[in-house]
Formats: sequence, structure tokens, C-alpha cells
Amino acid sequence: MYFARNLKPKMKFYTAALFSLVTGTAAFMPSTKNTLSVTELNMSLEKYSDELIATANAMVAPGKGLLACDESTGTVGARLESIGLENIEDNRREWRELLFTTEGLGQYISGAILFEETLFQDSSSGKPFVDLLKENGIIPGIKVDSGLKPLLGGGDGETWCSGLDGLYEKCCKSYEQGARFAKWRTAVRIDSKKGFPTDYAIDECAHGLSRYARICQEAGLVPIVEPEILIDGVHEIAETAKIQERVIVEVYKKLQDCGVMLEGTLLKPSMTVNGVDCENKASPTEVAELTVQTFERSIPAAMPGVTFLSGGISEEDSSIFLNAINSIERKGPWRLTFSFSRALQSSCLKTWSGKAENKEAAQKQLLARAQANSEASQGKYVAGSQPSSEESLYVKNYVY
Ligand code: 13P
Repeated sequence: MYFARNLKPKMKFYTAALFSLVTGTAAFMPSTKNTLSVTELNMSLEKYSDELIATANAMVAPGKGLLACDESTGTVGARLESIGLENIEDNRREWRELLFTTEGLGQYISGAILFEETLFQDSSSGKPFVDLLKENGIIPGIKVDSGLKPLLGGGDGETWCSGLDGLYEKCCKSYEQGARFAKWRTAVRIDSKKGFPTDYAIDECAHGLSRYARICQEAGLVPIVEPEILIDGVHEIAETAKIQERVIVEVYKKLQDCGVMLEGTLLKPSMTVNGVDCENKASPTEVAELTVQTFERSIPAAMPGVTFLSGGISEEDSSIFLNAINSIERKGPWRLTFSFSRALQSSCLKTWSGKAENKEAAQKQLLARAQANSEASQGKYVAGSQPSSEESLYVKNYVY
């Protein structure tokens, strides 16, 4: 078993790390006792290790990627309002039901990242969304962070990701409800004039991700580790590459410090691209070469897969870049696939426009983008072969 083979030699270290989790996190305490013993916590990692590895690998099975539809109520509301719908629970349900009932979606999509409301929500016919997804061969996941907050002590405009308080309990409840993975998005801003990112911001980004990842694994959820490098700014692609490498190296250092089992995790980074306002636009080949270079220098081989976010890049460019990334030679063994929100849903949402008569066409559009990205994850996508939008999906100071 994985635990016995690989984790036991580190037991002393684990004991210390786990002890600090117990003492530092009230949420770890079960209702019947005041404390969890170190042995019990070790046992919980042992209990889930094989399952975590199996889930992580299933999520990045060849030709499959993730549908990120975990937008917070405010963000999904803004999207619904853009097509004239009110941001009320019934409308959010209807939109997500349209996505999940798309026939054949499970052929390209291995998992769906849900917002808490959706994880515990039923479809209009009364079936829990988690069951609907599972019937379609899609693993349900949950966004567990509580959003970005200003990083006091960092630079003005830098942020940190909140949500560690009560996280273990939240993860346990989500597991019980059927979730098998989780996501935590933190964001790093590049601005060379202001000296961003500061060392402090990078340290905090890696610290939060490592604490989150360890807690998820204790509760049986595969942590998707998401250190987004925002595309806001005028920076060249070479600067992104330099900073992204620094960030990912720091993230893995801290994941190791925290005793996270890398085989049962996934990474959700941005592609290595230039800033949105940079005059020199990198070509798909440059994006591919620098993305792969960044990863080869920073991601351990034990981590099974990268599931990219789209980050404001258009639907078509996201697929073209992913395809280019999967078309060049690389030494790294990880699968490189997608976990897009905007770049999977935007043309589908527009096609739907909140009208029942457009539902079928909207689902066809979602399936087309899912197929395109499935092909791109295997280096087989022919640009323009599926309907897409080339419109930029960039939103200044985007919150999720
Ligand atoms: P985008 O693909 O729209 O960047 O969203 C992905 C995501 O999950 C961000 O956390």
C-alpha cells in the first residue's frame, strides 16, 4: 500500500506536522471528543491514500478535463445578468442543470468543480446534482476557499486566499455529500513597477495552498492546487515565466513541508502567457515552450496532472494554446489538460440566453468546446474545427 511504502519513513515529520494541525485547527475536533490523537489522523491519511491517487488519476485520464462551474453566487450572477436573468437560486439551478444534463459530456469531462450551493442542490426534477453528475460519469468536486482578501503587509493590490477556518469539517461534509476533490484558488499579481509579486505574497500563496492541500487529503478529497498568475498587466511572457517558476517552486516546497502526498494532488496553473496589455503577444509556440519549461523546472514528477485555468484568454486561444502545449516534446510525465470556466461556458451561455428554446443548441455548444479541449489535451485539435468565440474573456481584477 502507498502509505506503508512511501509515507512511513517520514513518520516523525508527519507526527509533528499533524500535531500542529491538531493544535492549530479547532475544526479538526470531532463533536464527541476534545482532541484527535495523532494516530487517528495518521490513520485517516492511510485510509484515503489509495483512493486519492485513483481519483487524481481518473480526473486526468487521457482526453479528459474538468468543467469549472464553481463561480461564487456573485460571479455566476453577473454572468446570468449579462443574458438578462436575475441572480436567484432557481436561475442558477437552471443554468447548471443545462450544463450537467448535456448528453455525452462525460466523454470529455471527468470532473465538475461546484460551488457549495450546487453540491447540495437538487435538479428541477428533485435529483441531487451529485447523482446526476455521477450518472454522466463525472466526478463532483467542491470549491472550498472563501475568496481573496487584501494582503495587509504585502503590496497595495496583492491578495491572500481565505478559508482555512473550519476547512476540515467543510471537506468532511463535502466528502459525505459525494465530492471527491476540492479546489482552492489563490492569485498572484505581476507588476514590475510596484515590485509585485512581493516575496511575502508568494510565501503566503504557497503557505495557504499547502495547509489546504494537507487538510483536504485528511478528509479524502484530492486537492487541486491553484496558484493563478493573473494576466492583468503589461509584462512580457519571459517575465511571467520567471515569476511563475518562482511561485510553483515555492508551492511545492511548502506542499512537501506540510507532508502532502503529491501523487494524490493536481495542479491548476495559468498557462505561461504575456500580460493582457503587453505589446508583444506571444505565439502559441512560445506559450507552449515557456509553459513546458516552467513546469519542467518546478513540478515534481510524482504529481499526476496539470489542469489549466483559462484566466481570461478567449475560448479559441485557450484550445490553441493547450493544443500547442501538448504538441511539443517534453521530459515531464504529467498529463496537461483543461479545467476551464470562462473558456468552456461563455459561448454556451450566450447561445442559451436564458431561453428554453435555445437549450439544445447551448448544450451542443458546450459539448463542442469540451470536445475541442479534449482533442487539445492530446495535441489533436485543429484550430477552428469546432464553433467557438474568439472574444477576449478578460475581466479586470477578476474575482471568482
Ligand atoms: P477560468 O477558466 O475562467 O479562469 O476559471 C477557472 C477557475 O476555476 C478559476 O478558479
